[in-house]
Amino acid sequence: MSTHDSNDWWRDAVVYQIYPRSFADSNGDGDGDLNGVTDRLDYLKELGVDAIWLSPFYPSPQADGGYDVADYCAVDPRFGDMADFDRLVAEAHARGIRVIIDIVPNHTSYLHPWFREAIAAEPGSPARDRYVFRRGRGEHGELPPTNWLSNFGGSAWEPCGDGWYYLHLFAREQPDLNWDNPEVRAEFLRVLRFWCDRGVDGFRIDVSHGLAKDLRDPLRDRPDPTVLGPQADDGSDPLWDRDEVHAIYRAWRRLFDEYMPAKYAIGESWHPFSPRIFQYARQDELGAVFDFSLQKAAWGRDIYREVIARTWDYARQAATAPTWVLGNHDVPRVASRIGLPVGADIDTWVTSDGTDPAVDPVAAQRRARAAALIMLGLPGTAFIYQGEELGLPEDFDLTPDQLRDPNWERSGHRFKGRDGCRVPLPWTADGPAFGFNDTGAAWLPQPDWYAGYAASAQDGVDGSILSLYRRAVGLRREWVARGADTAMTWLDDPSEPQLLSWRLPSGLTVAVNCSADRGLPMPEHNRVLVSSAADWRDGDDPAELAPETAVWLA
Ligand code: GLC
Repeated sequence: MSTHDSNDWWRDAVVYQIYPRSFADSNGDGDGDLNGVTDRLDYLKELGVDAIWLSPFYPSPQADGGYDVADYCAVDPRFGDMADFDRLVAEAHARGIRVIIDIVPNHTSYLHPWFREAIAAEPGSPARDRYVFRRGRGEHGELPPTNWLSNFGGSAWEPCGDGWYYLHLFAREQPDLNWDNPEVRAEFLRVLRFWCDRGVDGFRIDVSHGLAKDLRDPLRDRPDPTVLGPQADDGSDPLWDRDEVHAIYRAWRRLFDEYMPAKYAIGESWHPFSPRIFQYARQDELGAVFDFSLQKAAWGRDIYREVIARTWDYARQAATAPTWVLGNHDVPRVASRIGLPVGADIDTWVTSDGTDPAVDPVAAQRRARAAALIMLGLPGTAFIYQGEELGLPEDFDLTPDQLRDPNWERSGHRFKGRDGCRVPLPWTADGPAFGFNDTGAAWLPQPDWYAGYAASAQDGVDGSILSLYRRAVGLRREWVARGADTAMTWLDDPSEPQLLSWRLPSGLTVAVNCSADRGLPMPEHNRVLVSSAADWRDGDDPAELAPETAVWLA
């Protein structure tokens, strides 16, 4: 049995993340939809991905791009209907592509029937107990119950007007569920089973480290409320990464394992780098967890060497596959971010207003190409965010009136937010909405320069980043994804401090010259399988490894 038929199919998979609203729009209303995804499955097949992960497509007022779910077992009419979903799954499976969906269990939309019921109900009622309602501090409840802050800015407590407040760790339209309530636990098992029975292959668990909170009264203030995510590395934070969260996932795993093959699950657990995140990936829990350290690292040999080795070691110790991520719908696109000066403080930039002039666009493209060969040259699960394969940069041109991310308002207009990586994709270099649809409507406007990155303009073009991705994903099956025998050996060379290099059991050597200005002698090899250099052609065997270039050598 190959790993592709087994419970372990994901361990070496390439997963393509689709943000449905921005992928492809079949009905021309300006919002992408499920039929748009189905229409483009052949493109994804040609790219060679093993699975797609769909960001939320559920009924939602879109206060947070669909991560505010009003009904967990339905399709938002703007994205299609259940028949479209079933067809998408069937068509994907017919092409050997698995389907992973996003589950958002930390909070619902304020339009979810449970929250409508809770808001109308009395304090202390069972309907309110499914969420987190507390009386405010101060004589008349004029102060929020604790100092907890929303991840999007401002207090995490929204006043109900009668001295009571409800908790929302994200936007106010996203009330947090109370996971101490057995009804909440039972409901999500029902939701997961609903989708498992509909044929999905797995789940991405939104904010998986946030569900279990210390809600014992009196609630505790956090020592430094401005730290988003766990403040301590020991499970003692009242909100994040508490030990009790793992019991939830053990129950989920029992359900996932009732299926053949078992359902895949991956947690989104933001954490300052720590082996604790791998607890989510234990065999009797989710099985896999996102590790964002590669995404967070600025371009640079030593930092890459460090984060890759750490991720690799921790994942191996936890008996899971490492996960490799360069971008997603929450962070500025890699093809801009990676053009920051070497060693730049990436976190500062990620939360800045996104207009940092220090990004060098030429270096960004060159490094983004090399980064593709780094990520795809690592054993484990690799995630491609839609448009990454086109080298699409972040769109900094959106004006304040065009922004939709709640970060913009909640931060008091300090952070532009995440819209710049969510602009509808360019499929063609001309025509309405660059081929996103045939009417020209687009929920976020596309900049003129999108034309140069269109899929059609890159298709079959030697040296395009799309061609590079296709080639590398294809080669990966043979050279990188080898199931249980994966191991990596570092090829450190003290005399070449800018060389990042490792070898895999297949005989593949990945070599990266991280220097911006100095070529390196090409490491020993028989054949160059692929190079990130834009002018490299199949069969070329250059004597030098050019600056900021990666190669796969056999
Ligand atoms: C996750 C999602 C992000 C969303 C947040 C709240 O981090 O990736 O897009 O805003 O959770 O659901």
